[in-house]
Amino acid sequence: MTDCVLGVIGGSGIYDLPGLAGAEWVRVETPWGEPSDDLRIGHIDGLKVVFLPRHGRGHVHSPSDINYRANIDALKRCGVTDLVSVSACGSLKEELAPGTFVLVEQFIDRTFARPKSFFASGCVAHVSMAYPVSPRLVDHIEAAARAEGVTCRRGGTYLAMEGPQFSSLGESHLYRSWGCDVIGMTNMPEAKLAREAEICYATVAMVTDYDSWHPDHGEVDIQAILQVLRDNAHNAQRLVARLARDIPRRHEPCPVGSDRALDHALMTAPDK
Ligand code: ADE
Repeated sequence: MTDCVLGVIGGSGIYDLPGLAGAEWVRVETPWGEPSDDLRIGHIDGLKVVFLPRHGRGHVHSPSDINYRANIDALKRCGVTDLVSVSACGSLKEELAPGTFVLVEQFIDRTFARPKSFFASGCVAHVSMAYPVSPRLVDHIEAAARAEGVTCRRGGTYLAMEGPQFSSLGESHLYRSWGCDVIGMTNMPEAKLAREAEICYATVAMVTDYDSWHPDHGEVDIQAILQVLRDNAHNAQRLVARLARDIPRRHEPCPVGSDRALDHALMTAPDK
């Protein structure tokens, strides 16, 4: 069994992870180009933790421009076995009010302008995405949230849209009719690439707004989103710190096989 290394990708509003002992910003090179930023590497209670701000410090990368392949590759090179994505999202359900944390179970990928695979030319692989998040990692996140008194709901479907514009009213109603719970711009292809890299993945989706469908809340407003993020960033950081303290130090085999996703996925002959 390998040691657990916890990766954390911080979305909008989360550009650092306080409480990392001996933390350093480390530049990591990848064959896919530059990650969003240097990686912040340190320890919490002896556990190696690797943090990456998805949009870069200063929020300089828009969702379509993020180099998702470089990000996942860099985290893999740092030994990450378990990856938590902390991401702002809009709500598509009345009961998921701004401030709620949702531990997503499924994704619908409506992005269309991003490279989505490490396997493009010369080597073909088809990994399963039936169960995109690792339930054991979600168990640990849920326990950490409970321990910290952070309100969170387990389950739900995340609609990944291209952006950067928010949805039209028609799109927002369409996604609701599909039964989606939250909407965001970044967790795909991130989740797909994590699976190809055989990293366990889970999303903590922080609800910041009601998207555009809600008759009492009007249009999505980035200033209002930023205020909710400011109010909740501290909860997210506490949750992650608790997770790092409590997660088992040995990486546990993933019940849905995230950590051996390539075992039966390759189609190209090994000598090619
Ligand atoms: N991120 C935060 N709120 C969002 C929304 N309503 N749509 C897409 N991404 C978001």
